[in-house]
Amino acid sequence: MPNKVFIGREHEVSILEKAFNPTGVPSRSILFIAGPSGIGKTTTTIHVLEKLRRNNGILTIYLGLGKPYSSPNEAILDTIKQFKQQTKNYEKTFQTLYNVMDKIINRIKSIQVSGLTIQLANSSRENPLISFQDLISSFVESLENADLKAAIVIDELQNVLRFGDWSPWGLMKLLMSLQEDYGNIQFVLVSSDYRFRANIISDTPAEYIDTFYLGEMLRNDALKLLETLLGIGSGERVKNATKDEISEVIDRIGGNPSLIYRLVNHSLKYNSSLLESLNYIRNHLYEDSLRKILVVKSKSKGSWYSVKNVLKKLCTQPVDI
Ligand SMILES: Nc1ncnc2c1ncn2[C@@H]1O[C@H](COP(=O)(O)OP(=O)(O)OP(=O)(O)O)[C@@H](O)[C@H]1O
Ligand SMILES: [Mg+2]
Repeated sequence: MPNKVFIGREHEVSILEKAFNPTGVPSRSILFIAGPSGIGKTTTTIHVLEKLRRNNGILTIYLGLGKPYSSPNEAILDTIKQFKQQTKNYEKTFQTLYNVMDKIINRIKSIQVSGLTIQLANSSRENPLISFQDLISSFVESLENADLKAAIVIDELQNVLRFGDWSPWGLMKLLMSLQEDYGNIQFVLVSSDYRFRANIISDTPAEYIDTFYLGEMLRNDALKLLETLLGIGSGERVKNATKDEISEVIDRIGGNPSLIYRLVNHSLKYNSSLLESLNYIRNHLYEDSLRKILVVKSKSKGSWYSVKNVLKKLCTQPVDI
């Protein structure tokens, strides 16, 4: 199955390409890209960054923080690694940033080496969020000095903030003031976490944040993605994947690319037809959601089954509540 395809999203890409492109004139709004998990936020964002880098020659930084970090320092070290990888050709320009990165690395190492110094991590200066802010500020300063333009995307920032239950407000203020002072930078936040977005939106004056909501793919693009993944016309075939079946499947699941991927993977792995896999995955999803919905699971088997039945009905047909 091809794993690096990018299909459709022409409309979204053209809007985002403009929104990511710093004009050189200081601007106010940070862009927030929201949308359900698996809808294609990361993929579309990276596609836009690559296009901008190719066509407009601007520097693009993508900080992907949606990883299973076990400590905030691990997240900071990973951020530094990503900054280094993506500024490889600009080491001289970003000398200040490199100095800041080295200082942070040394500090984290000293904490890791001596058990005693772990306590230092609790002092406010050691708050990893401050390191993150230092990285961003020195990046923007160097950018200005070199008169370079950049778009910087921070994907799943809430994943780092969760460690200390930190409010995103301090960082937002920094991003807003940097962008208001310098016209060469555009900040973009990406997240599917509704609580994080609600937090940011409730704290930030409306003129400082633009939200772009990424929804499902257009029907034709979803069909194209499914056909491409199935290798229609070349190579791999899923049992009984006729045009009609493909069309029916998209009518039923809509334009969520990760669901389409999941379906094709399942069909190929178990050599089942698309509809068989769809039924399997739907049941599986339903079990997944049940686990999430029922945070407090009833101890009595009887009531567990009745709750399950009502939810099952809710998933498949309208129920008179
Ligand atoms: N336009 C597209 N063409 C082809 N594949 C796509 C497209 N958009 C997304 N995908 C695929 O769909 C899957 C989910 O996409 P992605 O990870 O970008 O979603 P996301 O919205 O960032 O999800 P999350 O909120 O979980 O981070 C990936 O396997 C990706 O390759
Ligand atoms: Mg993502």
